[in-house]
Amino acid sequence: MDFKGKVAVVTGGANGIGREVCLGIHRGGGKVLIVDRDAAAGQALAAEIGSDARFFAADVTQAKDVMGYVRAALDAFGRIDCFHNNAGIEGKVAPIVEYDDAVFDMVQAINVRGVYLGLKHVMAVMQKQGGGSIVNTASVAGMVGTPGMGAYVASKHAVMGLTKVAAGEVGPQGIRVNAVCPGPIRTRMVADIAKQVSPNNPDGVESRYTSGIPLRRYGEAIEVANLVLFLLSDLASNITGAQYTVDGGRTAAPPGMVPGVA
Ligand SMILES: NC(=O)c1ccc[n+]([C@@H]2O[C@H](COP(=O)([O-])OP(=O)(O)OC[C@H]3O[C@@H](n4cnc5c(N)ncnc54)[C@H](O)[C@@H]3O)[C@@H](O)[C@H]2O)c1
Repeated sequence: MDFKGKVAVVTGGANGIGREVCLGIHRGGGKVLIVDRDAAAGQALAAEIGSDARFFAADVTQAKDVMGYVRAALDAFGRIDCFHNNAGIEGKVAPIVEYDDAVFDMVQAINVRGVYLGLKHVMAVMQKQGGGSIVNTASVAGMVGTPGMGAYVASKHAVMGLTKVAAGEVGPQGIRVNAVCPGPIRTRMVADIAKQVSPNNPDGVESRYTSGIPLRRYGEAIEVANLVLFLLSDLASNITGAQYTVDGGRTAAPPGMVPGVA
C-alpha cells in the first residue's frame, strides 16, 4: 500500500490493531502520529518507527486532547490525509439487568464520544484541505448483538451510525469515511473478555468461540490492519459510508444455523 507523501493519525495506535496500522503506514512510506493514553507503548512505537512517527498522549474522551492531537499532527507534518479513529474498550461482561452504570458511561465515552470528537476535529481539517480518508473501528458487535456485551454492542452500533452520517456530510468535499467490523482478534481485548467470561479457563473460551467461526480461529491484528490500510489508501477511492467485516466468516454463517432452514 502506497502512503508516500501522506500523513496519518491513528488513535489507540500504541497497541493491538492500531499499532499494526501505524507500522503499515510507515511501510508504505507515510508519516504517522500515534495517539494513545498508553504513553510507554506509544513512545516505544514512535522510537521503533523513527523520524516519520511522533507520539501524542491523549484521552480521546476529552475535547482538549482531541484538539491537541490534531494540532500536533499539523505542527509536525502540516496536514492529515488519513485518520484511523480506533481507540476503544470492551467494558464489562454482564447482563443488562446487572450492568454497572458507570462502566456503561465509560464505554460510551471512549467508543462513541471519542469517535465523534475525532470525526469532528479531523474532518474540519480535511474540509480545509479538500480531501482525506477516515476509517472508524466498529466491530461485528456493531452488526449483531452479543449477550453480556450491552454497553459495547450499543457503542459499536453508534459507530456504524456516525460512519454513515459523516460519509454523507463530507463526501461532496472528497472525504471518505468507512467502518471496519472485526470479529475476535488476538489482542489484549479478547484476552480480557475471555478472562471475564471464564476466569478459571480463559483458553477454553477461545476453542468454544472459534468452533462457531467458519475459519476456526481468531483473527490477527495485522489482518484487520490490512483492511484498514486498503480503505485509507487511494485504492479505495470510490468507497465511502461502507462497513467491512473481517471476522473469519462469523457473521455470515453464525453458529447454530440448522442446515436447510433459512
Ligand atoms: N480485539 C478484538 O477482538 C476487536 C474486535 C472488534 C473490534 N475491536 C476494536 O478494535 C479497536 C482496537 O482494539 P484492540 O483489539 O487493538 O485493543 P487494544 O486494547 O490492544 O488497543 C486499544 C488501544 O486503545 C487505547 N485507548 C483506550 N482508551 C483510550 C482513550 N480513552 N484514549 C486514548 N487511547 C485509548 C489503549 O491504550 C490501547 O492502546 C477498538 O475500538 C476495539 O473495540 C477489537
